[in-house]
Amino acid sequence: MPIIIQGMIKLIKSTFYHEEDTKKKLTSFIKNAEFLSFGQECNEFERRFANWQGRKQCIFLNSGSSANLAIIQALLNLGKLKSGDKVGISALTWSTNVMPLIELGLQVIPIDVEIDTLNVSSDLLRKTIRRHEIKMLFLTNLLGFCDDIDKIRTLCRQEKIVLIEDNCESLGTIYKGSKLGNFGLASTFSFYVGHHMSTIEGGAICTNNEELANMLRLVRAHGWDRNLAEKSQRKIRNKHKVNSTFYSRYTFYDLGYNLRPTEINGFIGNTQVPYLDEIIKKREDTFLEIAHKIYNQEDRFYPIRYDHIDLVSNFAFPVVCRTKKIRDELVQKCNGKIELRPIVGGDMTKQPFYSKYEKRSVLKNSNAGLIHNQGLYFGNNPELTKVEKQQIISIFTK
Ligand SMILES: Cc1ncc(COP(=O)(O)O)c(C=O)c1O
Repeated sequence: MPIIIQGMIKLIKSTFYHEEDTKKKLTSFIKNAEFLSFGQECNEFERRFANWQGRKQCIFLNSGSSANLAIIQALLNLGKLKSGDKVGISALTWSTNVMPLIELGLQVIPIDVEIDTLNVSSDLLRKTIRRHEIKMLFLTNLLGFCDDIDKIRTLCRQEKIVLIEDNCESLGTIYKGSKLGNFGLASTFSFYVGHHMSTIEGGAICTNNEELANMLRLVRAHGWDRNLAEKSQRKIRNKHKVNSTFYSRYTFYDLGYNLRPTEINGFIGNTQVPYLDEIIKKREDTFLEIAHKIYNQEDRFYPIRYDHIDLVSNFAFPVVCRTKKIRDELVQKCNGKIELRPIVGGDMTKQPFYSKYEKRSVLKNSNAGLIHNQGLYFGNNPELTKVEKQQIISIFTK
């Protein structure tokens, strides 16, 4: 049964879509499974998710944060990034979008976001490029929205900047006929509870680039080649003159971690992928029903623009108040009725870890800072009832 705390509209209402049925299937799967570490179910999920996303390769990992760490490590291993390189990030994002960059010796260059889309635009990227020679852009597609990501892609191609999308919050959004997550060299996803689709914990990286996918499979598991296709295994073994089966399973080719999901996550993923379009449609319907009623109150809230997006797929409604006072009053008003939180992780440059480790680049008078101070969000999950939607509308409209 979905978790409903009496009277309170929670950010997360259930662990899975069709929770009771999924848990029943999961119990029986665990009882009968011979192995529960990475195997058939995970491989099948990779195939299905790549197919759903429309990319050739999917690498399934144990979280979206692990996906972000793995992609940076893989780019370093392949020499597409070098220690000390500058990497642009959306200032409004999640901690583990930024942390792997610092951990792996890259210089973080925060880029402000547009107040009406909450995302980095090609204009803001262009301004950054004038001051910094960035080698990579780790672009966050925030809460189902984007700005002109097609122009960002063109600019990155012109300037030879590697574009990677953190799509952990925008699974299913369609912009100019393409799903977000298909604009850059690769994109990361999160299947944490409360995101669009849950495998409890889980994440993925999608790409069309086979060399990168192979490196990601090494990075995901110890730096060994066990999850590569036979042809790729032969190639890497020949290159390193590994010709004994005694050693081939224990040869570690490049820097890696253990970021593997389990068969439990894979099995859940396989039960949830078929529901994905339905989940997204429900959230889109709710978003379209409520959003304009809230965003129309331009005297109280900054309007959020989404008419350039074909399908907005989010799991939360962001609201940016004109003043901190309005935001604080809403927080009071929602107390015990609607669970609220800041917009994602807020302005990363205001977080303690950022000022401790990355003192070189700060943003002043930024939109990200304003959103940090005056923003909030509440959940948009597929189990919201009619009564709950009415309650939200009545609290957020005068
Ligand atoms: C933009 C973004 N990236 C990465 C993550 C991390 O995902 P996970 O919780 O699966 O580690 C999140 C989490 O909410 C996120 O919002």
